[in-house]
Amino acid sequence: MSAAKTPQGTPQGNAQANGGKTWQRTLVTAALPYANGPIHLGHLAGVYLPADIYCRYLRLLGRDVLYICGSDEHGVPILLRARSEGVEAQEIVDRYHKGIEESFARFGMSFDYYGRTTSDTHRETSSEFFRVMAEKGSFVSKTESQLFDPEASIFLADRFVRGTCPSCGFDDAYGDQCESCGSSLSPTELKNPRSAITNAEPILKETTHWYLPLAKAQPWLEEWIASHEEWRPTVLGQIRSWFAAGLADRAVTRDLPWGVPIPEDVAAKAGIDAAGKVLYVWFDAPIGYISATREWAQMSGKPDAWKAYWQDDACRLIHFIGKDNIVFHCLIFPWMLKSHGGYVLPDNVPANEFLNIEGKKISTSRGWAIWLSDYLEDFPPDYLRYGLSTILPETKDADFSWKDFQARVNNELADTLGNFVNRTVTFCDRYFDGLVPALDGPNEKDTEALAALAGFPAKVAAHIEAFRFRDGVACAMSLGRLGNKYFNDAEPWATRKKDMRACGNTIHVSLQLCAALSILFEPVLPFSCAKIRDMLRLEGLRSSGPDVAAGGEGELGWEDAARPLLEAGHKLGTPEILFTKILDKQVEEQILKLNAGKLESVAGCTSGAAYAPLKDYIEFDDFAKLDLRIGTVLEAEKVKKSKRLLRTLVDLGFEQRQILAGVAEFIAPEDLIGKKVVVVANLEPRKMMGLESQGMLLMAEDREGKLVPIVGESEAGAVLR
Ligand code: 2FM
Ligand code: ZN
Repeated sequence: MSAAKTPQGTPQGNAQANGGKTWQRTLVTAALPYANGPIHLGHLAGVYLPADIYCRYLRLLGRDVLYICGSDEHGVPILLRARSEGVEAQEIVDRYHKGIEESFARFGMSFDYYGRTTSDTHRETSSEFFRVMAEKGSFVSKTESQLFDPEASIFLADRFVRGTCPSCGFDDAYGDQCESCGSSLSPTELKNPRSAITNAEPILKETTHWYLPLAKAQPWLEEWIASHEEWRPTVLGQIRSWFAAGLADRAVTRDLPWGVPIPEDVAAKAGIDAAGKVLYVWFDAPIGYISATREWAQMSGKPDAWKAYWQDDACRLIHFIGKDNIVFHCLIFPWMLKSHGGYVLPDNVPANEFLNIEGKKISTSRGWAIWLSDYLEDFPPDYLRYGLSTILPETKDADFSWKDFQARVNNELADTLGNFVNRTVTFCDRYFDGLVPALDGPNEKDTEALAALAGFPAKVAAHIEAFRFRDGVACAMSLGRLGNKYFNDAEPWATRKKDMRACGNTIHVSLQLCAALSILFEPVLPFSCAKIRDMLRLEGLRSSGPDVAAGGEGELGWEDAARPLLEAGHKLGTPEILFTKILDKQVEEQILKLNAGKLESVAGCTSGAAYAPLKDYIEFDDFAKLDLRIGTVLEAEKVKKSKRLLRTLVDLGFEQRQILAGVAEFIAPEDLIGKKVVVVANLEPRKMMGLESQGMLLMAEDREGKLVPIVGESEAGAVLR
């Protein structure tokens, strides 16, 4: 945990005006990652990198900013994982919390504090929050029948119930969703339900819970959201669709053996037995931001310092999250803060969309992900910070591909930024003894370059302030391009031989551009910018990290990038290569690694044996029971509200059949029409998504789970033997 920053009260002169309001402080939170898996690129692009860029930028401006995050250590998936590994849930979260914190640190995340929701402070803060809300009458209690595992003696959370999907007949659907047809379910809808823990048949049993009456909160929430027209359209769009559907009351407690226990006195007052009840993970997790801020204050020796960030209207609260967290951060948590009273509400929630990898959705269960810790074994953090910052999913889902990453690093970091800095510093070292030449009678191009430089901090800042980080980074890189063009056009290698004064001017101006770049890129490339400043021996820049009190409080800041910072005669440091190009071979290795991750997850093992295991022998009579026919697909279309299903009409020669096939993710309907496919013609008809399927289309599933139809060039109705 890092707590190097000392609370200093309100620093002078760092107020920030925004939309007519003046802020003295900014509190930035980044969604607490679940401590049941490592960090991958989707997390970084969605939440942590933009939040880090924002905080580093604010610190360079000299603003009072606090960047808070931590591990989200409760919830059913953690419990499920612990049970499947046969260990305690605490062991799981201890393991992942440590790994996550370490890889964040190596990636340069500048958290002022990284906490965890199993800490004592969090337990106290969240129970107290619940108590205050209960005392204010912010909850209603409801008694309902829920599924209970009589063998394990616990109520079953939705994910703990498995059974047959009422829509498509898939026999291993979860209590909240069918992974086969995508239907949203409630556990009592499942046919043949069973407990995922003991396999026992669950029974219905009454249980009482606290609910947040969100239906009643809707008018206030609508009014509050209406005062934030400046939020991202994607965020407002999602919120409006929640409003249009009507907010439903939400249970904020659960019957689970893992979580923050319900305070017994509160339960006693409500006449409810608190035994076995905990706060719902989505109730306690956002309070984790508050507990982590309290811990930061305690560790800094000023236990009340957290209040200046949470309980003072002069503080601006910004939540960085992914789009799947919008409802919690834009509606539920603000309503909790408002009901509790005394807390600031978020001023903006710049939620990002999702990042895909090589054109496919990230899926940790299917092994389709790039893990931060793996990445850091092979490449420096700044390459990824840059690569991701150019493709952040700010307005729509974005795609990360290794080839694009290679191109960004090679063409932009190495050939543009790195090349410009390197050629400038090397030239100065070689021909000016490493001493900054004087600017002596600059020509028009020199003056123009310095004038352009003067406008850059404000231009990049405008993008960052508007949470347009991609544009901010592109703008900063355009200064690198400007530098290279200026250098090329000025031809210092030629003027060196005939006009040393002009040559000196070119190097002088180029060095000033390098100095500015080392500040403007600092939020994105903190490691490389420190190297640039070492090469330039540029000292005194305010720290962009949390170590402001540890000697990082320099006199130079963001706005100083607008002016020449290196005086004539200043001695530079030693030139060094900033960025090494990524080779094709390295990219190929990464793509192989990515695919290997997927194969491992399909095969469930780490060897090359990724093929589906052979089934046991069957009698010929068993095979003969199958009636396999050739059928011609006459029609094919997607089934509404289903991600997987296609409805086909198949001609078997003697009759036509409606057959549903779970292949929509792999085959476009138009590619199926006209194909002669193999049909299981005597499979008992069954209903899926309200439609009857009169047979099955045979498919071949490869090791990556991709399905292709099996075709046979014979007449429709031909029998397969
Ligand atoms: O979606 C998630 O990964 C959650 N763990 C985010 C929690 S954010 C906050 F509320 F703590
Ligand atoms: Zn289903």
